[in-house]
Amino acid sequence: MGRLDGKVAVVTGAAVGMGRATAVTLASEGAKVVAWDLGVDVEGKPLADNPVHETVEIIKNAGGEAIAFHGDVSSMEDSENAIGTAIDTYGQMDILICTAGILRERMIFNMTEDEWDDVVRIHLKGCFAPTKFAAIHWRQRREYGRLLAFSSGAALGSPGQPNYSAAKMGIVGFTRSTANALVRYNVTSNAIFPGAATRMTDRGLASQKAIRDGTPLPSETAGGTERDPYNNAPAVVFLSSPEASHVSGRIFATSGWTYKLYKDEEIIRNLYSDKQWDIDELFETLPKTLFQGLAPLQGQTAADVTAGNRVRIGGDVIGGAPTPSAGGA
Ligand SMILES: NC(=O)c1ccc[n+]([C@@H]2O[C@H](COP(=O)([O-])OP(=O)(O)OC[C@H]3O[C@@H](n4cnc5c(N)ncnc54)[C@H](O)[C@@H]3O)[C@@H](O)[C@H]2O)c1
Repeated sequence: MGRLDGKVAVVTGAAVGMGRATAVTLASEGAKVVAWDLGVDVEGKPLADNPVHETVEIIKNAGGEAIAFHGDVSSMEDSENAIGTAIDTYGQMDILICTAGILRERMIFNMTEDEWDDVVRIHLKGCFAPTKFAAIHWRQRREYGRLLAFSSGAALGSPGQPNYSAAKMGIVGFTRSTANALVRYNVTSNAIFPGAATRMTDRGLASQKAIRDGTPLPSETAGGTERDPYNNAPAVVFLSSPEASHVSGRIFATSGWTYKLYKDEEIIRNLYSDKQWDIDELFETLPKTLFQGLAPLQGQTAADVTAGNRVRIGGDVIGGAPTPSAGGA
């Protein structure tokens, strides 16, 4: 008896990494899975073969049910076909997990228009497009729906990834909007800040050292450790299940063996006026009120880069560790 018996899941980015781990684990809990992938490398260039078939084989060899879908998550046409394939093949569509993504890291002053557009399109539109067609089905059925979108701790301000950080914070707003819009149809929608050693994180200093030394890449030795991509999947199973019907509009971190719930943004100070602010008065008042005692932003230090930390606000390192490389997602 699986936790997701009778449910149908569509998993994007299911060919490798955390998408594969998610698809395999959902299937092991009884979900029928559409494993959806375009078959590209980390920067989005097409691979000779799309390894999504291996994901399907793993599921079938373990006695589960799955089919592969080849397509681009940022295409409206492919998204409609993917959701339609799930409904035509299995009769319904209950769970959508958006994990597909690419990286094109560059500092803001060097970033090209294409690097910006492609990363934002694949991550952000790549959540919108599948969700739109899932939502049409969920609204018609009014029975059950689960959206889980893989965002990232980089949403909090990874300095070398303005495109990725913007897209990942966009995903947070998107999942919250969807949570509010679809609650009346018994649909939940949440964002996940995951973490694991995958080919996506095989881009940092630890990986460069491994290549120089001729030793395995971090992702090749992650199995069974805190960096195993399968570590995220049990939380995804819970959030996809009927037991999580009250959990929506939230952000979770699922990296390693510690799961975390983020606090919603809240107003921490108010500066009240009963008329429009006079600029001189505001310059006088703001430093003594709203902005009093704010620690200065320190930016990312060399030690943070080595530790894989994402962003330093005041003295606090936010959203990164543990990531044993400077590459990061
Ligand atoms: N690995 C980490 O530590 C980490 C941390 C934070 C967030 N994330 C996010 O988690 C998700 C999964 O990361 P991963 O490390 O498993 O990545 P990965 O590179 O191992 O896998 C990404 C998958 O997405 C697919 N894909 C890319 N573009 C696509 C498109 N247009 N249409 C369909 N499929 C496409 C790729 O072919 C690949 O199979 C990503 O969204 C990533 O940004 C990862």
